[in-house]
Amino acid sequence: MREFESLDGVHFFHLNNNPEVLKYTGDSAFKNIDEANKFINNYSDYKLNGYGRWAVCLKDTNEFIGWCGLKLDNYEVDLGFRFFQKYWGLGYASESAKACVEYGFSKLKIKKIIGRAYIKNKASIKVLQKCNLVFEKDFVYDGKPAVLYSIKNDKNS
Ligand SMILES: CC(C)(COP(=O)(O)OP(=O)(O)OC[C@H]1O[C@@H](n2cnc3c(N)ncnc32)[C@H](O)[C@@H]1OP(=O)(O)O)[C@@H](O)C(=O)NCCC(=O)NCCS
Repeated sequence: MREFESLDGVHFFHLNNNPEVLKYTGDSAFKNIDEANKFINNYSDYKLNGYGRWAVCLKDTNEFIGWCGLKLDNYEVDLGFRFFQKYWGLGYASESAKACVEYGFSKLKIKKIIGRAYIKNKASIKVLQKCNLVFEKDFVYDGKPAVLYSIKNDKNS
């Protein structure tokens, strides 16, 4: 996993260009590669917070297969992930999300990490559970039923 870099714009464009990938995210596709490039070039979380979402790349080929990471959002740290559909079901989200929680707790000393998902997004909820996040509450996001999961850093309470 590594920080986003300028050349990732094209990957972001193609990732978000699949309606199946965006189905349970509330995001929209980029209009074109330029718009995706702008998003990457304006991505300021690493500078502002010292962490953010990270690119997930295959170790042997360096291929960008998606992203996973932490986002400071309204005083809460959110765990999120998104992968190209051809790489779903291979354990990459679970592997990278576990690494983010571990890094967030041991290196960044974050106190609590949350994860949100639409109830219909079974795969996403499963990933949160595999990272030991536990169900906190139901809520409605953008008019649709969703769940909030969380985990506290017991080494830093
Ligand atoms: C959600 C997402 C990141 C999961 O990625 P992934 O790499 O396929 O996840 P994993 O392979 O680590 O699988 C996680 C678990 O979910 C299970 N799972 C996968 N798809 C599932 C489905 N449709 N229904 C139920 N469980 C499912 C897997 O079997 C696995 O459980 P297991 O280890 O007990 O077998 C991926 O589907 C994705 O990118 N979706 C689009 C973006 C998105 O919705 N992001 C989350 C927004 S909240």
